[in-house]
This record gives sequence, structure tokens and C-alpha cells, in this order.
Amino acid sequence: MEIKNKEIVSAAKPAADKLVLLKGKDVLSAAQFSKDEVDLIMETAAYYEKKVKDGEVLSDMEGQVMASLFFEPSTRTRLSFETAMNRLGGSVITVAESTKVQTSSTAKGETLSDSIKVVDLYADVIVVRSPQKGAADEAAMAASNPVLNSGDGAGEHPTQALLDIYTILKERGDLNGLTVTLLGDLKHGRTVHSLIRLLSHFGCRIILVAPEKLRMPADIVTDVEKLGVAVKQTDNLQEAAAESDVLYVTRIQKERFENEAEYDQVKDDFIVDSAIVKAAKKGIVIMHPLPRVNEITVDVDDYEGAAYFRQAGNGVPIRMALLALVKGCVN
Ligand code: NCD
Repeated sequence: MEIKNKEIVSAAKPAADKLVLLKGKDVLSAAQFSKDEVDLIMETAAYYEKKVKDGEVLSDMEGQVMASLFFEPSTRTRLSFETAMNRLGGSVITVAESTKVQTSSTAKGETLSDSIKVVDLYADVIVVRSPQKGAADEAAMAASNPVLNSGDGAGEHPTQALLDIYTILKERGDLNGLTVTLLGDLKHGRTVHSLIRLLSHFGCRIILVAPEKLRMPADIVTDVEKLGVAVKQTDNLQEAAAESDVLYVTRIQKERFENEAEYDQVKDDFIVDSAIVKAAKKGIVIMHPLPRVNEITVDVDDYEGAAYFRQAGNGVPIRMALLALVKGCVN
């Protein structure tokens, strides 16, 4: 692929022997991907992004149905998955409900596994988000069609991490040799649990900055260190920003706390404002999976390296690539 001014200017269709790598597979954890598979997803996303930009109307998934099951609030993830399926000429059925307002059979006590067995008869591919860690694996066991994990509690969010990698690629041209800082609620943040694993394929150095009680789980750090990745943990945001090419900011995950007082203790520990950005390494890219609460001040939005809205846009080509690849229908 060729990238100019943060845009895909050309992208070839991946070779036929590569296009089958993910056919029939679930997408459950970032740990499942080989470097070849991540590269394939990036190339396929670029291929689709260029086609959509050129105004092509696609029919790669014509006649297929995607079920989008969101048992936890979502805006970007659900809408970008649904947009992706629509762009591919497929259609969408949806259940979207938070744990507060429930309208479907899960509210009546039906197990996820039973719901999925039925949805599997209606749809060709299933996208699921749940407040329960491990829910996507459970869904995948119950379904014969591919299941895509769109966030399982404080577990993982692999499709977000893929769009994060794609964003860094577009913003910087290459990931090799970059220093990437992950900041915020690294304990409960599922996007960073997935992202740190994907970054380990690209020769990046990783810095983790978090409140003491919200550090990255030790088993994840050990896993990536075993792959030869250098990981530094610090509470000095200024210093980390001064040596980083990318600063990936996350929201403190209020909904995962036992009580409000604990959340209040840490919610303002790290705020990225224009003073932080000014003192940071020149050209630093600021990312955030969104939604933002107060961890990036709005004055940062005008900084040219503030990539978080572009990042959200990248969800569509990445999810187009994932849907078409798992169904083996990239035309
Ligand atoms: C994230 C999530 O749901 O984990 N949002 C998203 O998918 N873009 C991050 C968050 O909620 O903080």
C-alpha cells in the first residue's frame, strides 16, 4: 500500500493464497494473530478504504447477514461494524441494549450460549459485545459461523486494536522502531490489552503510564516481554511523552469500579493538555479509542497530531476487511 499525507493513495488486492488465512476463523483475542495475518488485515483494509473513497459500490457480501449483538453500550464499534457490512453490500440485524435497559431474551434469563445458537441460524457472521470477560469465547463455542469479539468486559477488544495499528500505520507510515506510550486505565481497558499484544509484532518499544492501582495486568506484560519487547512502566507522563512517537490515551473505566469513591481517587491523575503536547516529542501522535471524558482536554483537538477522530473513522475499513476475510469473500 502507498500512504501519502495520512491517506491511502493506492492499495493492491492481497494475493489469493493470503486471502484464505482468516477464512472461517473467529476473532476473539489479539493473541491469536500472526504477523502475516495482521499484515493481511491492514492490506485488505487499505484496499477497501481506497475503493470506498473512489466511490465504488461493493457487493462482496451481498446476500449475507451480520448479526450485531451489543449487550453493553457502544456507538463507534457497533455503527462502524454496521457501516462496514452495508458498504460490502450485506445486511445487518441488531440487538443493542445496555445492562440497564433490556428488551430481548437475555433479560429473561436466557444464556448467551442459547441466544447465539439461535442467532447462528439467522446470520452468517456474529459480532458480540458483552460486559462479561470470556463471553466472546463462549459465543464462538455455540456458533458455527465466525464470531467477532467487540469487547468482552475488561478482557479484550481485538478489532479496536487492529484499527489502532492501522491508524499508526497511516499517521506514521511505519511502526517499526516507534516508542508507544499507553496511558490511563491499563487494568480494565480492554483496548490496551489487545493493542499491546499487536504492537509486539512490530518492533515497537512500549511505555506504560497508569495510576498505581490501574496498572497493566502482570501476565500480559510478561507475555509481551517474552516476545522480546522492551516494556517500561513509569508514572512520569511528561518524561514518557518526551520520548514517545505515539501517546495512546484511555478513559478510566468507571463502570468496572466497585464504588464511586475509588474511581474519584484516580479519575484526574493524568490529563493530556496542550502543555503536555507542547513539551512532548516533536510530531507525537495522540490517540484515544473514545469516548473521551476529561483525559484529553479539548484544546488538544486542534493539534495536527491529534488522531483520535481519524482513528474512529478507520474502524470502517478495518471491519470491512475482517468481515470479508472471515467469510472468505474479498472480491
Ligand atoms: C472502548 C471500549 O468500549 O472498550 N471504546 C471503543 O470501543 N471505541 C473504550 C472505552 O470505552 O473507554
